[in-house]
Amino acid sequence: MPYGIKSKITTRQEDSVSMAADSFDGRTRRLADGNRIPVLGLGVWQVPDGRECVNAVLWALELGYRHIDTAQAYGNEASVGEALRRSGIPREQVFITTKFLPSRRNAATEIAGSLKRLGVEYVDLYLVHWPSGGPSRAWPAMEQAHRLGHTHSIGVSNFGITELGDVMASATVPPVVDQVDLSPFTYRRSLLNEGRARNVEFEAYSPLGTGRHLSDGTVNRIASRIGRTAAQVLLRWALQHDLIVLPKSTHRPRIEENAQIFDFVLSPSEMSELDGLDRTSGTGVALERKWR
Ligand code: A2P
Repeated sequence: MPYGIKSKITTRQEDSVSMAADSFDGRTRRLADGNRIPVLGLGVWQVPDGRECVNAVLWALELGYRHIDTAQAYGNEASVGEALRRSGIPREQVFITTKFLPSRRNAATEIAGSLKRLGVEYVDLYLVHWPSGGPSRAWPAMEQAHRLGHTHSIGVSNFGITELGDVMASATVPPVVDQVDLSPFTYRRSLLNEGRARNVEFEAYSPLGTGRHLSDGTVNRIASRIGRTAAQVLLRWALQHDLIVLPKSTHRPRIEENAQIFDFVLSPSEMSELDGLDRTSGTGVALERKWR
């Protein structure tokens, strides 16, 4: 079942529905460079290349997802590409993200390998996976990949306020996305506020805490009160904070469950209860540990 459910529409949802009227799935946001991005995507971090990954992506596409998030470092771009082809869905209807592995030298060279493994002529979004070797080191080559049309948009991942500022200072084409570990438990308010002031959209990876947050008492109390699952509550929290959300699952029923987040609304008090779970003290930092 596609996730274009339109019941119980609030004023805010009406806005997003009308804004997305010209888009392919009705659930997209416009990035600062004018490109549209679906607000729900399937993440495939830690999904082994091969049948498991092909199936997960194929199921997601069958169930209405139009956004898949992979990376050079995940080692499963070939499976994502295979699922895309097997789905029969036209390339231009699916938003594909991959990420430059920053231990490699040149992002413009590396993207050629990613495109080959994916079997596509371009990706929709290409991210610097983490700020290795200095936040702006990879950026000129990212801009080159963009100029050559190998990617429609460019951005970063795991960049905090300081690193974002560093890239912005030298960029000709600024990053439009920062993909970060975000959830009620890792609600980096300062990073979100400052990034948004610079026209950066945020994507939430590990929105379920790689599964850890699903057993939290507060999350489960809210879930049973409103007749939803813990996963749906966490994902809905992300949507209501205007995040692009990238849950990972390799199980078809869960992939389906995770897409059913457009037909209910968390109340302001439920949102603030969830906000209160933050353990980052609203930090502007993207990650608690250092990158190698
Ligand atoms: P699995 O892939 O076996 O379905 P995150 O998105 O934060 O990285 O979390 C991913 C983890 O949460 C995976 O271990 C995944 O397991 C599990 N998961 C994803 N969706 C659900 C769900 N709806 N219910 C329970 N567990 C889920």
